[in-house]
Amino acid sequence: MTGRAPSKLILLGEHSVVYGQPAIAVPLRDPGAEAAVSRTDPSSPIELDLRDFGIRWTVGLKPVAEEIPPFAELIRLATTSLAGVPDRGWTLSIRSEVPIGCGLGSGAAVSAAAFKALAAEFKVPLPPQRLSDLVHRIEKIHHGRPSGIDNTVVATARPVLFRKGRAPEFLSPPPRPLTLVIGYTGMRHKTSEVVADVAAAHAAEPERYDALFAEIGDISERGAKAFSGGAFEELGRLMDRNQTLLEEMGVSSPELERLVAAARDAGALGAKLSGAGRGGCIAALARDPDSAQRLRESLLTSGAQLAVVTEALTGGAHPCGSS
Ligand code: PMV
Repeated sequence: MTGRAPSKLILLGEHSVVYGQPAIAVPLRDPGAEAAVSRTDPSSPIELDLRDFGIRWTVGLKPVAEEIPPFAELIRLATTSLAGVPDRGWTLSIRSEVPIGCGLGSGAAVSAAAFKALAAEFKVPLPPQRLSDLVHRIEKIHHGRPSGIDNTVVATARPVLFRKGRAPEFLSPPPRPLTLVIGYTGMRHKTSEVVADVAAAHAAEPERYDALFAEIGDISERGAKAFSGGAFEELGRLMDRNQTLLEEMGVSSPELERLVAAARDAGALGAKLSGAGRGGCIAALARDPDSAQRLRESLLTSGAQLAVVTEALTGGAHPCGSS
């Protein structure tokens, strides 16, 4: 059995979401992660096959390598919290197209795909909220104190106006597809470090930062209406303003700003960094699929290591279930 999960993109509101302001995140059609479970001898130890890293881990036999703790937690949660998943006799293979450390929720996508595959193979009911809670527990190992936005969007595969500590507000689908171009700087970021830097800056200048967070929160609220109403030009303007505020917050970088400028010059309705910032990705909102290709080329000639044309999954039928 296999399980698929989408990547996620924060359209508006990263960082301020950590301080209780709303943010909008959408699941993306591409890239995504996929996991497959195959049964082995019932007495054999569990094996984890992480092909993208060239790692094959026999659980319990080899020491836990540096990259493994989230996966050790994944196996522990699967075998203790999902009644019906045995603690021996299966191999889990995981593949992911989602670049790591670039703001697209790679950790959450991999975990969600793995839990979905295991639930499907061992016939364990796994409603989206429960999947989201499990993924959140692994996100804590990746990021320390994640707001919960990644696991919510990746597990439910629905666009959301997210507020920390509140039930997610799922957004009505827009009347036409939302075409996005993701440009990757090629520089990985560490979310926990950037979040810690913002916390230090907020502690030093609370009034200035609270004002930035509040304006971004307002942008997210307006963005939610623009998204569902199909007012994409307005949504693009809000993305541009959000980028300016992220620059003022100190989480942008020259590499990100070069890609943002390239996207705007090539006709994007709006463009901003997405995720923790410093490195990672920008997101550009395209007027339509044809112009998205022009945006993609412009990003590549302006130094993007990777540029992907994709679409927000808007909550109807989507290809990210299990089979
Ligand atoms: O770069 P990412 O995908 O890890 O996004 C982090 C988003 C933040 O708002 C900066 C942190 C959070 O936990 O929401």
